[in-house]
Amino acid sequence: MNKEHAWKILESQQVRMKQIHLSDLFAADSQRFESFSLKFKDILVDFSKNHINKETLQQLLDLARACGLKEERDRLFSSEHVNSTEDRAAMHMALRHRSSKPVMVDGKDVMPDVRSVLVQMAEFCHAVHSGDWRGSTGKKIENVVSIGIGGSDLGSDMAIKSLQAYAIPGIKIHCVSNVDPSHLARTLCDIDPETTLFVIISKTFTTLETMTNARHARLWLLDSGCSEASIVHHFVAVSTNTQAVADFGIDPKNMFQFWDWVGGRYSMWSAVGLPIALSIGMPCFEEMLEGAYEMDRHFLETDFNKNIPVILALLGVWYINFWGATTHAVIVYSQQMSQFPTFLQQLVMESLGKSVTHDGRAVDYLTSPVTWGNSGTNSQHAFFQMIHQGTQMIPADFLAPARNSDGTTEQQQQLISNFIAQTEALMKGKSLQTVEQELAMDGQSPGKISQLAPHKVFPGNKPTTSILFEKITPATLGSIIAMYEHKTYVQSVIWNINAFDQWGVELGKHLAAKVLDELGGDNALLTHDGSTNGLIRYARAMAEKT
Ligand code: F6P
Repeated sequence: MNKEHAWKILESQQVRMKQIHLSDLFAADSQRFESFSLKFKDILVDFSKNHINKETLQQLLDLARACGLKEERDRLFSSEHVNSTEDRAAMHMALRHRSSKPVMVDGKDVMPDVRSVLVQMAEFCHAVHSGDWRGSTGKKIENVVSIGIGGSDLGSDMAIKSLQAYAIPGIKIHCVSNVDPSHLARTLCDIDPETTLFVIISKTFTTLETMTNARHARLWLLDSGCSEASIVHHFVAVSTNTQAVADFGIDPKNMFQFWDWVGGRYSMWSAVGLPIALSIGMPCFEEMLEGAYEMDRHFLETDFNKNIPVILALLGVWYINFWGATTHAVIVYSQQMSQFPTFLQQLVMESLGKSVTHDGRAVDYLTSPVTWGNSGTNSQHAFFQMIHQGTQMIPADFLAPARNSDGTTEQQQQLISNFIAQTEALMKGKSLQTVEQELAMDGQSPGKISQLAPHKVFPGNKPTTSILFEKITPATLGSIIAMYEHKTYVQSVIWNINAFDQWGVELGKHLAAKVLDELGGDNALLTHDGSTNGLIRYARAMAEKT
């Protein structure tokens, strides 16, 4: 079957499926949960509350086959240059590869280099934690400030917060990303330069925000009395660009290497994750790698009809391309994992926010969903109104750890009951008839009932996928992140787009450099459009106010 044919079959299937309410699918099949849920270790993925039946799933799998998913998955894992526009492999899986087999990238086994950086990270973390590595005045390091942005920040920030329960006492990790001066200044105002270590993370070591913040961090140290010669005790770097690191003044022996076959948003498994390792220790960091590796194997070795990243990706395609959904919500019932949706935003939207195919033709179908979300139960009191009663279809993933050793069992049970009840409410809804009966039982008048009832109806029929696991551990977090990475790749295959480049971020960077020159100057002749000229003049005038 070719792709066009598979696509047409799914279009007809959508016409049929949209006639059936989700609750009717459950009423008709007592085994629906068993048929449409999968387990990976302790992670339960329940996708039964979606607009699918066995036929739909088969048709989606046919589409995947018609798009050459098996071949493309093999190309990814064989280090072929799946990043076609940058002519590179996307081999982040090598960073968490745990077997003794070689991993060849561009004719070279990369595992010796990968392992040697892991050893370097382990030695460094041990030195910092034990106090062998000290600041220039001989004090133990108590604060680590990670400076990076995008893929050089979001994964670390999210994992450090998610794994707070594993944090090593006596050391605090701060992540600074924004060039907004407040981010660095407010972070530094409470910490002591003598006990502070900066980790500057940038694949390119040219990113404006990171380099500007790194320069200011250095000035802060110098202003505190630290000499130029002693600054080495307070700076390390993570990059692919040794020369730029040396030019910045960081000794390359204090640099942790990674490689151009690791994309920024897929790089937290490399030394980019050094802040994570400094927070939770290298053994826990390696457990996270192990969890991701197990998910790699699941993706690589499991039949597509039981393959979790494949199923999740196909459900996304189903809603985006056949139901017209433009967004995908991710609700995490865990305060510690509340940065997870932000991390996913870059992973999904920088990877899939493309409108041309690999060979440069314009696509005539939707690609990346707007990916967004927050923690539950907070989101229930913020945007759930729209998911329940708004006009758009918003497919949502619900994630939760069943256990949490912080706080009380009562709080945790309330959290999980909300998680489960919301997916039930979104699926079932509440009919007009039920609402009218309830209002009548409340003693409302017929007039009041007909006035109020339409507002109190829940149409239900809203799709959700529940991802419930035992508790947040480094390994589970690693597996979940890798699951979403592979889901993203599968969608890129279906859409025939490059998941590993990001040309769309370049123009803004280029224009910002030009505007920066003009903001600081007094050149009256500005040659932008009227709006841009007006904004530059207004910002100049505001900056001059005392
Ligand atoms: O702005 C986009 C981007 O290139 C991301 O893809 C990347 O994660 C981020 O900037 C940071 O880049 P670098 O690690 O080179 O500083």
